[in-house]
Amino acid sequence: MFTIDLSEKVVLLTGCTSGIGLGIARQFARAGASLAGCGLETPEQAGEFFEIVRQESSQEPLYVQADVTKPDDLARFVGATIAQFGRIDVLASNAGTNVFAGAEACTEDEWDMNLNLNLASHWRLARLCKPCLETAPGGGVIVVNASCHAYSSIAGCFPYNVAKTALMGLVRSLTLEWSPAIRTVGVAPGFIDTRLNEAWFNTFPDPAAERARTEAQFPMHRLGTPDEIGGWFVFLSSDYARFAAGQTYLIDGGRNVVMM
Ligand SMILES: NC(=O)c1ccc[n+]([C@@H]2O[C@H](COP(=O)([O-])OP(=O)(O)OC[C@H]3O[C@@H](n4cnc5c(N)ncnc54)[C@H](O)[C@@H]3O)[C@@H](O)[C@H]2O)c1
Repeated sequence: MFTIDLSEKVVLLTGCTSGIGLGIARQFARAGASLAGCGLETPEQAGEFFEIVRQESSQEPLYVQADVTKPDDLARFVGATIAQFGRIDVLASNAGTNVFAGAEACTEDEWDMNLNLNLASHWRLARLCKPCLETAPGGGVIVVNASCHAYSSIAGCFPYNVAKTALMGLVRSLTLEWSPAIRTVGVAPGFIDTRLNEAWFNTFPDPAAERARTEAQFPMHRLGTPDEIGGWFVFLSSDYARFAAGQTYLIDGGRNVVMM
């Protein structure tokens, strides 16, 4: 049987409280990993994270309310994880958000906020986790959540596109500098069906028609699910993917190969 058993692994996951982060948490819990998650929400608001992990696993998760753009919060999150579990084997660096602004209209504040959240926070957290990851039995793994916007994009999404494309460079550089002790890879999800995207469809006069129009543009005729992206995080963290390093894998239902 082809199974992935991460029951000896501790996974530190950012952005675990909603959307793709919940799918990542579910799949790591299914693989038996111990989870430490963070998000902007209070522990009370992070109920779904606890619920999902408890459904799938007997390992009680740790949750820390932390803003990844604040270095002190990152250090507190990493410290709490080590205090609870004594180790970190996998960094699942997922937290981020889209920033809709054109190159001319983008303010300095939007630019700084975006680069801090969607790029620098991944670097700062990787550096903080490095001492644990490089001593993890069997080797540590970093999986960074980039975006399909790193491959092709839309106008009016300027700072996000820049940061997500730069994350591919971060994945390459960490691979060059920290391998073989730490293996670094990226995931670039396409359009994933989350509550935020549902809210986006609801901004159209006919949300169902807009959803159908969007889905028709995908060779797979649908959007992706958080669990499908979570599955990639688990696979890439496992020994089955031990020769994968330095690349950011596009998982977009074939959308990127459509010319028009
Ligand atoms: N949803 C998509 O279609 C899609 C596609 C490609 C890439 N992505 C990427 O996937 C990741 C997750 O996106 P999502 O759609 O699940 O978003 P979401 O808004 O549903 O969830 C975002 C998560 O990140 C956390 N977060 C946001 N800002 C934070 C901060 N400053 N500090 C700590 N935590 C913070 C939130 O608490 C939440 O847990 C992001 O990096 C996003 O760029 C999403």
